Amino acid sequence: MKQAMAGIRVLALSSVTLIALAFVVEYIRTHYLASHIHCYTSIKTLSDDAPYANCFTLGRNGEFRTVYTDPSPAPETLIDGYVLPGLWDGHGHVMQYGEMLHSVDLFQAEGLQDVRLRVRAYLEMNAGTGSREDWLRGIGWDQAAFGGVMPTAVDLEADPVLSGKYIMLDRIDVHCIWVSQAVLDLLPKPMPEYVEGGEIVREPGLGVFCDNAMDIVRAMWPKPSGQTKKKWVGSAMRSLNELGIVGVHDAGVMPGQLKMYEELAGGEEWTVRVYAMLECAARNTFCADDARTVKKADGMLVAQSVKLFADGALGSWGSAMIEPYSDKPNTSGSLLVNATTLTSVAKSWALHGFQVNIHAIGDLANRLSINAMTAALFEVCPSESLASCQSKRRFRIEHSQIIHPNDQIRMLDIGIIPSIQPTHATSDMAYAEDRLGPQRTSAEAYRMKSLLKTNPILGSDFPVEPANPFEGIFAAVARRSPRTGLGAGGSNDGWHMSEALTIEDALRGFTLSPARGAFMEGKAGVIQKGSFADWIVLDRSFDGLLVDELRQLKVRETWVRGKKVFSRQNAA
Ligand SMILES: *[C@@H]1O[C@H](CO)[C@@H](O)[C@H](O)[C@H]1NC(C)=O
Ligand SMILES: *[C@@H]1O[C@H](CO)[C@@H](O)[C@H](O)[C@H]1NC(C)=O
Ligand SMILES: [Zn+2]
Repeated sequence: MKQAMAGIRVLALSSVTLIALAFVVEYIRTHYLASHIHCYTSIKTLSDDAPYANCFTLGRNGEFRTVYTDPSPAPETLIDGYVLPGLWDGHGHVMQYGEMLHSVDLFQAEGLQDVRLRVRAYLEMNAGTGSREDWLRGIGWDQAAFGGVMPTAVDLEADPVLSGKYIMLDRIDVHCIWVSQAVLDLLPKPMPEYVEGGEIVREPGLGVFCDNAMDIVRAMWPKPSGQTKKKWVGSAMRSLNELGIVGVHDAGVMPGQLKMYEELAGGEEWTVRVYAMLECAARNTFCADDARTVKKADGMLVAQSVKLFADGALGSWGSAMIEPYSDKPNTSGSLLVNATTLTSVAKSWALHGFQVNIHAIGDLANRLSINAMTAALFEVCPSESLASCQSKRRFRIEHSQIIHPNDQIRMLDIGIIPSIQPTHATSDMAYAEDRLGPQRTSAEAYRMKSLLKTNPILGSDFPVEPANPFEGIFAAVARRSPRTGLGAGGSNDGWHMSEALTIEDALRGFTLSPARGAFMEGKAGVIQKGSFADWIVLDRSFDGLLVDELRQLKVRETWVRGKKVFSRQNAA
């Protein structure tokens, strides 16, 4: 009897516990989750099912939980603002961007004196830099601002404040460096007459080293400490968040750098998702020991692709062309790797399960990249069509700048993804036609609309170009410079407008297409149930913007994994 009573008491107790528990669960469901409802004037989701919404809630793991297409769930919390999915840059360099933020900005410098003044100003703000242990760094010079004449070490030495300082300044395209006399004095003597795939500039004097010749200088450069590099990454991510960027395809991450990324990802300061392309210490090789994939569960760091390099840049006649340059008929540029090696390396990576991403600017480099990719696709799916294999492997050509019409057709047929930087087109339009001539320019150069079917990924190649995605969208849509608003030669018309994208397609290039190019479709670049809770808030609707308004557009807030990572001061 006593035992029975005790049993009933236990039963009664446990039902009280159950009821209490149910109350707690209900309380959490309504209050805790309700407090996580975000409602805005309008949410442009880029989802096919529901292109517009008004509210969403967040799940526990930084994903969108429920997306509501009407404001009824919590009208009292409606925020006056316009939401887009967080933006992705499909090709940038996070570490170099951070380094740039900690160096002298020489972009748009108007002459040698302007460069000297900027370097002096930087020295004043950063006492101690310019020593042998801590070289003063800068980026953005262009000899076009010096009357087309390459600068020299003497040009820096002539300034009494800069004299004796260790200085290394990157050209705007990072394919050349300009150093001071103190740095020159460190280099082994005598310097080689000739450098394969590079140049030691000797006219009008020593000081500039291009492409492979840069290695001679870099070998003497005191390597930045791990602490310094971490600072660069943190600064880069804060700056990218300000521009509405929530993810980057980092186009060349060395094995050591990837290890550092793994340590940092998951930390408070890691506020940009990184899809890293592995770059072997020895370029264009299969580095088996480092061929490791990384996939953080929260999607903050993924590495499963490799970066290879077929050629150099157009500005310095370095990109590999099928026919000679129009303004330098005795050269057609040069490949950084021959076709045999490119193909065998691409095959090795593909067989290892990696996505193969090849840097190709010139039409020969693009042709050989397509050949290498085709061979690698045959190798990994021998009994499938190339297109069906490619839809799984998603090989991509970084830059895809000048492509022969026949090869454009091959890219479209197979679905090889072009990874394009619209601001490269508007920066290069000043000289591209000189290099290529009118025929090649109109049939081959800076294609965007022609390649639309292959889901082109858009990006900036920061720090080579400014990282602002709205400038990239503007360049893609207007084919005019986002800086000046003008077309080639100061014209008011866009440059080869037949290749311009619509504003919607350009936005896809910074959201849905990079998601697909990183195997994150349905997770990134879209606001829907289960996708990453990454979004940005604008003061005005993206729909109906005038094209020129893109140049001034500012992000009010940026959210990553459901957390606010940027909020503009004095937001209207
Ligand atoms: C190519 O032509 C330029 C002048 O147009 C000349 O300065 C240069 O030496 C030539 N290079 C070769 C490899 O013939
Ligand atoms: C291609 O380059 C590799 C490595 O530099 C070299 O061993 C090979 O002989 C070259 N092949 C051809 C056909 O030039
Ligand atoms: Zn790049």
